[in-house]
Amino acid sequence: MMNKKKVYIETYGCQMNFYDTEILGGVLTKSGKYEITEEPEGSDFILLNTCSVRENAETTIYNRLMHLKSYKKSNKNLIVGLAGCMAERLRQEVFNKSDLVKVVIGPDEYRRATEILDNSLAGEVGIAVRLSRVETYEDIEPLRTKGISAWIAIMRGCNHFCTYCVVPYTRGRERSRSLESIISEVQSLNDGGFKEVTLLGQNVNSYLDEETRTDFPNLLRKVAEIFPDMRIRYVTSHPLDMSDDLIQAMSEFDNICNYIHLPFQSGSDRILNEMNRNYNRTHYLERICKIKEKLVDFALSTDIIAGFPTETEEDHQATLSLMEEVGFDGAFMFKYSPREGTKAFKMEDDIPEEIKIRRLNEIIDLQNKIARQKNEKEIGKSYEVLTEGPSKKKKTEWMGRTLHNKVVIFDNTKRNALVGDKVIVKITRANSATLFGDVED
Ligand code: 5AD
Ligand code: SF4
Repeated sequence: MMNKKKVYIETYGCQMNFYDTEILGGVLTKSGKYEITEEPEGSDFILLNTCSVRENAETTIYNRLMHLKSYKKSNKNLIVGLAGCMAERLRQEVFNKSDLVKVVIGPDEYRRATEILDNSLAGEVGIAVRLSRVETYEDIEPLRTKGISAWIAIMRGCNHFCTYCVVPYTRGRERSRSLESIISEVQSLNDGGFKEVTLLGQNVNSYLDEETRTDFPNLLRKVAEIFPDMRIRYVTSHPLDMSDDLIQAMSEFDNICNYIHLPFQSGSDRILNEMNRNYNRTHYLERICKIKEKLVDFALSTDIIAGFPTETEEDHQATLSLMEEVGFDGAFMFKYSPREGTKAFKMEDDIPEEIKIRRLNEIIDLQNKIARQKNEKEIGKSYEVLTEGPSKKKKTEWMGRTLHNKVVIFDNTKRNALVGDKVIVKITRANSATLFGDVED
């Protein structure tokens, strides 16, 4: 039998990218010619699955490429490639930016990965960066690492065109997988012992199965109903499409996690307009009211951008006040980063770096304070926790998550819970990121 070539894939960026790495792994291993390895040492290929969303995501990749030169020194035949958003954004240009890279594969071309790697072994430089209006990889079995939690991309791409965002250019237009293929994949996860599935998409609310006319709330209902023992999560939603029916669907099933990631980006209507977000502060707050009215024990997280072009001190204050008003359990907070090809790139990046940093720090400080206060309110309550494994710090302490996605650490010496077990934990202590508690009998 022919020796399989070893491929090491390193993943950067969002959950969709991590899922895509599993798709790439699925395609390559199915060919029978390649195997995925967990170690860069001794591999025949090193592929970086990259992100372009902010400039520093790309800087990280350039630094990593410099580092990879040492692997090339010890293995002359090593082939280095880029996959993902940066591959798509830079295309041919990658070869000018790094003489190490010989393979470039965009997010809609993973089906061709085997052919491209084959050709590169024969000495060719390989590039595949066409975007597709239909590709969903629904028939490809992702190569998942064993565990209790899995991702399924239910839709890909984005039609929103927020003015700062590169994603519509790197991942193309929205398209949904068939309902049938999603259900059968969750079935096989369920059969394989997985306890939790996260339905992924750049904008899951736009999901639509053309054939059965199933929209996202009804997809959630179907999955939750057929698999009552699975926890169902989803990311990401756009506030414009956060419909009453979606909130209603979440309230109908206990196994749909009461966790919503709802990026607001800015609290200022003028900036939201400049960002082409198509909602205003009032709409966002009204959606939050609806969520608070319908769901119990839920958690909210968000994305925030500091220092978008023309942002005034008053706009920034509006962001801070919106944070106070909503009270997010978590937030991903970023400095605005101009991305070539986007609409905002044509605006002057006029907020000086030190002001961006100061505003971002104010946002982070406020968020830490709010998160701590929110977590402290959990003290005394008991939650069902899905056990994920030993915590990083101490072997006897285990971690898991509540239905509303809070990380809980508990002493596991008495109960000896196993990975995937559900235990009831009474919260005794909290900080801004984590809850701590005791297992109840
Ligand atoms: N600069 C800073 N943050 C950005 N995001 C997207 N594009 C940019 C950019 N150009 C953030 C948004 C988005 C998250 C995934 O990344 O907050 O929701
Ligand atoms: Fe994910 Fe966006 Fe980064 Fe692409 S650019 S990897 S879609 S976060």
